[in-house]
Amino acid sequence: MRPMNRRHTMNVRFALLPVLLAVGLTACTVETGLEPELPRDPHSYANAEEARVAHVALDLTADFETRTLAGTATLDIVRTAGSSAIVLDTRALEIEAVRVAGTGEPLEWTLGEPDPVLGRPLRIMLPPGAEHLEIAYRTTDGAAAVQWLDPAQTSSGAPFLFTQGQAILTRTWIPTQDSPGIRQTYSATITVPEGLVAVMSAETLTPEGESVDGQTRYAFRLDAPIPPYLIALGIGDLSFREVGPRTGVWAEPSVVDAAADEFAEMEAMLEAAEELYGPYRWGRYDVLVLPPSFPFGGMENPRLTFATPTILAGDRSLVSLIAHELAHSWSGNLVTNATWSDFWLNEGFTTYIENRIMEAVYGEAYARMLEQLGRTGLRSEIEDELGGYESGETVLHLDLTGRDPDEGMTAIAYDKGAAFLRTIEHVVGRERFDAFLRRYFDTFAFQPMTTEKFLAYLDENLLEENPEWREAIRPRQWVYEPGLPENVPPVESEALVLAAEQADRFAAGTPAAELATAGWSTHEWLHFLQSLPRDLPHDRLRALDSTFELTQSGNSEILFEWLRLAIANRYEPAFVALEDFLTRQGRRKFLRPLYQDLAATEWGRARAVEIYRDARPMYHAISRNSIDETLDWGDD
Ligand code: BES
Ligand code: ZN
Repeated sequence: MRPMNRRHTMNVRFALLPVLLAVGLTACTVETGLEPELPRDPHSYANAEEARVAHVALDLTADFETRTLAGTATLDIVRTAGSSAIVLDTRALEIEAVRVAGTGEPLEWTLGEPDPVLGRPLRIMLPPGAEHLEIAYRTTDGAAAVQWLDPAQTSSGAPFLFTQGQAILTRTWIPTQDSPGIRQTYSATITVPEGLVAVMSAETLTPEGESVDGQTRYAFRLDAPIPPYLIALGIGDLSFREVGPRTGVWAEPSVVDAAADEFAEMEAMLEAAEELYGPYRWGRYDVLVLPPSFPFGGMENPRLTFATPTILAGDRSLVSLIAHELAHSWSGNLVTNATWSDFWLNEGFTTYIENRIMEAVYGEAYARMLEQLGRTGLRSEIEDELGGYESGETVLHLDLTGRDPDEGMTAIAYDKGAAFLRTIEHVVGRERFDAFLRRYFDTFAFQPMTTEKFLAYLDENLLEENPEWREAIRPRQWVYEPGLPENVPPVESEALVLAAEQADRFAAGTPAAELATAGWSTHEWLHFLQSLPRDLPHDRLRALDSTFELTQSGNSEILFEWLRLAIANRYEPAFVALEDFLTRQGRRKFLRPLYQDLAATEWGRARAVEIYRDARPMYHAISRNSIDETLDWGDD
């Protein structure tokens, strides 16, 4: 780990000043004194050119009765000589007091008008020299980052809490500058009811916790500077199992053994990633398996990936998600999108690296299956949801000003982004591209990255060598123009070709039992199901179902594909399973399309509304938000 100590940074800056002046780089970094230079972030109120948060120290108590996190956040800030205020991001926070840390001198502060997505700016007046501010506050019911779970929503029967900061939800539980370009170290003291364990995306200083007045207190710190969306907290009845020397899993007791078994190859993935892109800089890599309401598949919180239990398939077939979150330890957590318009730099690189890790650990053929599934998904998303290959929604660098950054979370950032990197790899050769990426991560470690800066670096450090490469790749077309450029190298997985053939045979009338499915992995099943015609007679669906027990599938991805087909054909025998799936897990990737499919017909919409009325309170605010939109749900 490489802590970026503020004083150290300042020394370097002053040492460099004459050099910078000499080469004519009198950029505003020198004038303001704050580094690095940051583009304007339309999703933050921070006045980053005047004052920045460098360290956040939390002292919070989790009260499961009132469902509040309450206490203080003490911020170490860096500021320019002329600064008179610092502006923080908050949303739905109740601010109680702001004072100078240590002396307790009260400070003047104001909260601006609320914006439903961005929240309210908290402007704190700064007396000369003030660099440590203490904010007393509590969260409210509007804390969209935080989900409080009742005992009925967990496998242990204990309550649970988890946070989800990305993209701009950290401000709903921590008053800080919530912009991915403003890196902050953090420390925390978290007090929880006795019997519960707290974990964070940081080093635990008190593995056993300390007993204080009948409660338990845990302490954490992370010395590496991170974007605030990576500050994360989990509280529950948690156990730990080691997987390898640097890897392990946290989960509720009844899940932890299954999780440790499912993720047994984590250490090998970590080694494969290091082999490709250089040392892992975060110490440990653990995974916290959350209760099923977790709205995402995974979240790359440093040192502690948060993951949905729906990847516990029992056969390790969905672990590419772990490869993905691990890959973020380089792309995203080390080199970070400067604003949410640069989101593809996080997710496109990560999706590419995920596939490289999978190839290293599971072999070429396996990785090609995964890559082709990604490519097929990208094409159908462009065609069916994003408005086609000419649509402005299909450019890598989206201008998300005035929009919820959540809207940038499409297959474009992920799979078009990965396809761009694959194209570069294909043109310049793998060896050269690997060396380039490794150098890129070393050069920009712990720094924000913009799309333009990446393009410039790519040009100067790779493409300059051979002008033909520029022409063969056309980076600016990839980044700024819609669609999928025709120079993308095709992906073809032989295994998936065979699976699609079986789908064609079935569509042409071959009995289900005669299909050649022996030895299929999850991915062949997924491709098979996706390749079937959307409308199938009920007797054919019944034949598929009774032969392959799809309605009973314990594999969430296979079940999801099957349920989509069932909805498309109003195949009632699968609807008990459908309702069960919609109510026992809260992963948005599964929920949204299923509700959307249902909402497409009158009968389906009625069912969707009925199910949603009961299930909605169990979903995380992130999933609720999306489905409210799908179903035009009112305010409650
Ligand atoms: N960082 C993302 C999750 C995210 C993105 C949360 C944007 C909030 C805003 C994470 O790495 C991710 O991409 N998760 C995917 C799984 C992955 C295998 C594609 C998910 O949750 O579906
Ligand atoms: Zn990701």
